[in-house]
Amino acid sequence: MPENPLNRPVRILHLEDSRVDHALVKFALQRSGLQHDILLVDTLDDFGREVTSGRYDIVLADYHLPGFSGLDAWDRMVELRVDLPFVILSGAIGEAAAVEAIHRGVSDYVLKDNISRVAHVIERAIEVSETRRAKARADADLAESRRRLAELAEHLQTSIEQERADIAREIHDDIGGSLAAVKLDLAWIARRPALDPDVRQHMDTALEMLQHALGASQRIMMNLRPPILDQGLVAAVQWLGGGFEKRTGVRVSVRRSADQIDVPRPVQLVAYRCAQEALTNVSKHAPQATQVDIDLSDREGVLTLEVSDNGQGLSAEALRKAKSFGLLGLQERAAKVGGWLDISSSARGTSVILSVPLDGVTATEPETEGANHHNNDRTRDSQQ
Ligand SMILES: Nc1ncnc2c1ncn2[C@@H]1O[C@H](COP(=O)(O)OP(=O)(O)OP(=O)(O)O)[C@@H](O)[C@H]1O
Ligand SMILES: [Mg+2]
Repeated sequence: MPENPLNRPVRILHLEDSRVDHALVKFALQRSGLQHDILLVDTLDDFGREVTSGRYDIVLADYHLPGFSGLDAWDRMVELRVDLPFVILSGAIGEAAAVEAIHRGVSDYVLKDNISRVAHVIERAIEVSETRRAKARADADLAESRRRLAELAEHLQTSIEQERADIAREIHDDIGGSLAAVKLDLAWIARRPALDPDVRQHMDTALEMLQHALGASQRIMMNLRPPILDQGLVAAVQWLGGGFEKRTGVRVSVRRSADQIDVPRPVQLVAYRCAQEALTNVSKHAPQATQVDIDLSDREGVLTLEVSDNGQGLSAEALRKAKSFGLLGLQERAAKVGGWLDISSSARGTSVILSVPLDGVTATEPETEGANHHNNDRTRDSQQ
């Protein structure tokens, strides 16, 4: 007995002008034991009405009908946007017609001489169609969840940048402002004549600490929302490289195609964050590195930023680490401005290359990243 993939009687729409053939089909189905309900129609109009009713699981159609063919019925069904498995059941239709039918998308065909196979063919056609629909559903779900994930990533980036800007502003207004006021007061006291030497010594230490705190709050502000970006990408990347060299002792050389590279603010921010993340990665993951080369170019209408180190390189697995989001986040950011990220690695080190075609990137300057909606799925990784 055929296994019914639907777990309920199969609802069959039978398009056939011969009552005898219809009876033969019913007989063959009964003998097979396939649970079914079957309805007979013999005109194209009746077929069109029934097939759109949503009451059927499959169509079984004769090929030669009075005034039309099984393929006309198929075309009508496609026209009506009904997606049902469709099996042609006919006397000899010839190989060319059979190939044509399958080519157009008909599920299968059975020769009337071979009518005992009909239940099996029905069962298989339904199974194939169910699998295809399940795959289409899964593909649609996957595409939707990818879209939502990209949206979430964009939202997170925007929130992070906004938060950074807010914190930087608060440090500037509250902490920076208060520290500057205290400094003025202390300096005023320090200028008093005949100050007790003990008091003066404490005053000097306090001023020193204050200077340190002011420096620290400025440094934190720079990291949160680098005003250096206002001086252009080249200056900002050089500033990043210089700070990195000072902190880590790793030599950084910056090469650029021009002293001033003007790109829209969103692209500038993506490039800056890319250089920042790549440098942080060198200090975290490439302890043997002694040299970092940063190449910045806007030749041929494409902004490229390449950060290469001479550390030990990285493996393909490294890029799939569950809790590593740095490079992944950069890929999302790059895609948002119409660019992509390449990561290449060898025993001689790692290179992170950001490329952003500049035509078509809007020159508007949103306050935060992510406000520029350029979708591009050219993001890719490459392992060499
Ligand atoms: N310059 C590099 N040299 C060697 N390995 C690297 C380098 N950059 C990244 N990696 C490897 O690639 C992994 C992924 O880097 P990624 O920046 O995405 O994440 P992370 O630095 O581990 O964490 P996060 O950036 O989220 O704080 C790292 O964990 C590291 O193993
Ligand atoms: Mg990282």
